[in-house]
Amino acid sequence: MKLKHILSADQFLDLGLQQELFALAAEMEKSNHGGKVPTSLAGKVIACMFFEPSTRTRLSFETSVLKLGGSVIGTENAAISSSAVKGETLEDTIRIISGYADGIVMRHPEEGAAKRAAAVSPVPIVNAGDGKGEHPTQALLDMFTVKKELGRLDNLNIAMIGDLLYGRTVHSLLPLLSLYQKNKFYFVSPDKLRMPEKFKDILKEKNVEFEELENFEGILDKIDVVYMTRVQKERFASHEEYERLKDCYVINSAVLEKLKKDSIILHPLPRVNEIAPEVDADVRAAYFRQARNGLFMRMALLHYLLGK
Ligand code: NCD
Repeated sequence: MKLKHILSADQFLDLGLQQELFALAAEMEKSNHGGKVPTSLAGKVIACMFFEPSTRTRLSFETSVLKLGGSVIGTENAAISSSAVKGETLEDTIRIISGYADGIVMRHPEEGAAKRAAAVSPVPIVNAGDGKGEHPTQALLDMFTVKKELGRLDNLNIAMIGDLLYGRTVHSLLPLLSLYQKNKFYFVSPDKLRMPEKFKDILKEKNVEFEELENFEGILDKIDVVYMTRVQKERFASHEEYERLKDCYVINSAVLEKLKKDSIILHPLPRVNEIAPEVDADVRAAYFRQARNGLFMRMALLHYLLGK
C-alpha cells in the first residue's frame, strides 16, 4: 500500500520499498544530469513550513519540488513569521495550509509534531525533523549514500558518534540499518548523551550486536561507516553543560591516519567542530556527497508520494 504521510523511519522497514526508493533516487540523479526530470508535480503546490532552522533539508526539498515541476509556498522561519507567534495551534495552522497546498513538508521543535499534523491533515505531511524525535528523509538519504559509497548495506561496522540522545538523525537511521545482516553498532557518546533505551531495545529484540563506548580510539581500524553528529545545542537546558560536551569528539588528520582505509565518514551536517576542515580533502569524507544525495532522495520521495 502506498504511503500517505512520511512521519517515521518505521514506515520504511520493508526492504522492497527501500530498494524501490534507492532505484528511484538513482533514476532522479541520472535524469537530473541528463536534464530530463519527470514533471510529476506539475500543477501541485507544496508548502514548506520550518519552525526550526534548516539549510539542506528545506532547500533540497524546495529544489526537488521545483525540479519536478511543482511550486513552493511557505516560510523558512515559521516560528517567527507564521500565526504560531499569535498563539495559533499547530493543528489549526495545518488545517489552513492543507486547504491551500497539496502537501506539507514541516520541521518543528517538538517531538511528535509531525504525527499531530498528520492527524488533522487531508494532504500528505512530510516530517523534516521533529525535535529530538525523528528525521526519516535524512535516514533514507543516509542509507542511499552508504549503498552508493560502499556497495552494500550489510556486513558493516557502524560507529555513531556524538549526541546520540538528542540527535534525531541517528534515531531514524538506526532502525533502518539494523535490518541488514551482520551489521554491528558502536555508540560513542559521553554518558550524558547516550542512545535512548528504546532504540537499543530494537537491537536487543533482533539480536543485533552493539557496544557503548565513551571514546573511539580503540575501534578506528575496524569501522566501515563513521556517522558523526553535532551536539544539539538547541536542546540543552544548561548552557554550561553544552559548553562542556560540545567538542567531545573531533575527527582530524591524526584520527584519519588510524581510520580504516576503505571506510566512509558521514555527517548530516551542519558540523561545528566535530570534523576538522583538513578532513574534507580525504576520499573517505563523504558528507558533502551525502548532502547532494539528499536532493535525489527527496525528489524520489516527493515523486513517490505525490507524483501522478
Ligand atoms: C540535522 C537535523 O536537523 O537534525 N540536519 C539536517 O537535517 N541535515 C542535523 C543537525 O542539525 O545536527
